[in-house]
Amino acid sequence: MSRQYDVIIWGASGFTGRLVAEYYTSRYGVDGDLKWAIAGRNQAKLEGIRSDLGNEAIPIIIADSMDEASLDKMVAQTKVICSTVGPYAKYGSPLVAACVKNGTDYCDLCGETQWIRRMIDAHHDTAKANGTRIVNSCGFDSIPSDMGVYFLQKEAKERTGNYCQHIKMRVKGMKGGFSGGTYASMNNIMAEAQKDRSIYKILFNPYSLNPVDAQKGKDKQDLMKVVFDEDFKSWISPFVMAGINTRIVRRSHALDGFPYGADFQYDEAMFSGAGIGNKLKAQAAAVGMGVVMMSKPNSITKKVVNRFMPKPGEGPSREERESGYFKLAFLGKFENGSQLYGVVKGDRDPGYGSTSKMLGESAVCLAKDKEKTPAIGGILTPATALGDALLDRLQQNAGLSFEIRD
Ligand SMILES: NC(=O)c1ccc[n+]([C@@H]2O[C@H](COP(=O)([O-])OP(=O)(O)OC[C@H]3O[C@@H](n4cnc5c(N)ncnc54)[C@H](OP(=O)(O)O)[C@@H]3O)[C@@H](O)[C@H]2O)c1
Repeated sequence: MSRQYDVIIWGASGFTGRLVAEYYTSRYGVDGDLKWAIAGRNQAKLEGIRSDLGNEAIPIIIADSMDEASLDKMVAQTKVICSTVGPYAKYGSPLVAACVKNGTDYCDLCGETQWIRRMIDAHHDTAKANGTRIVNSCGFDSIPSDMGVYFLQKEAKERTGNYCQHIKMRVKGMKGGFSGGTYASMNNIMAEAQKDRSIYKILFNPYSLNPVDAQKGKDKQDLMKVVFDEDFKSWISPFVMAGINTRIVRRSHALDGFPYGADFQYDEAMFSGAGIGNKLKAQAAAVGMGVVMMSKPNSITKKVVNRFMPKPGEGPSREERESGYFKLAFLGKFENGSQLYGVVKGDRDPGYGSTSKMLGESAVCLAKDKEKTPAIGGILTPATALGDALLDRLQQNAGLSFEIRD
């Protein structure tokens, strides 16, 4: 495939897209081996980003997600589209269609389960047939979860000859904020579900991203309350990203043909510590999260909450991003009762500092590592599309670590 660019960052005028462009400028430069450009719908904003990045040589491409001809023209110029234009359910569908039509690989930061389901139904078969790789959820949701499970199971097999039958992911610590774009995407999921109740079915089905004939298993709904986890000797509470992460992990397993067994289980929660004080704190946090997530779009509660939330284009400051981090524990349990414990860490705030590096490296991996990645197409996941090649890049370039601990 001969194309002018390796990667086009689509949505570079937004909060996260700008960070991906900043990451490429510092890691890959502009005249280096990686040929990349920034794209969006607003020339003046993109010129402003280019000036801020201190490099007038960064190419600019103009396209609008509502203008299919402009999308076709954009995607035909590049091997990979790296999209940060969200909410994806609002703006993403014509772009994915254009990528599949033109055989252009694609990655994004989508955490909107209902939209990924729509893309699977509309494009998986065609993308599989023509070898186009559409890889959703290449940020904090869901790379640490998907690649964490991939890593732990690989180690399990190498060390014991067997895969873990059940993996529990517990968020041990994280520090960071969130952006107006993420808040808008969360709101859009609820707004869509209010209009079309069948979306709740997708959101609550633990296997909703599996192929339609493979949506059975032992996993139940995500944790909705504070409970005590005997394995960790700690209270655990709902984790806001579990809804997308667990579906992506299960889709990876399904696309690979269920190598860990039909009974494989995976769940996620926040680690809240032992003792009654921690239980109460966790309960208060869970109620707060419920209010933000579940209040109806036009309710008074929502209007009050909206006042305190970031607007599109806004997000955590540089200082907040650089002092942020995340640490996730993975406990793998084997059929014979033995266990394997892994830790995945990131060196920046999860949602933006780390996410922009994870997404940026996923796009480079799609563009540059084709011979090291599985020869498949479809609506894929990070682990199924990129496997070991992405694991290497995340550790070498993106500040993530994957370790087995005693
Ligand atoms: N998975 C994760 O871990 C993770 C982390 C961070 C963000 N996200 C997701 O990433 C997405 C972006 O978040 P953000 O905070 O960066 O959002 P943002 O700052 O609001 O940026 C949105 C971008 O979309 C562009 N856009 C909107 N409508 C468009 C159209 N019709 N045509 C072309 N471009 C259009 C905007 O362009 P203009 O500047 O011209 O308005 C802007 O560049 C959200 O869906 C968010 O949920 C996910």
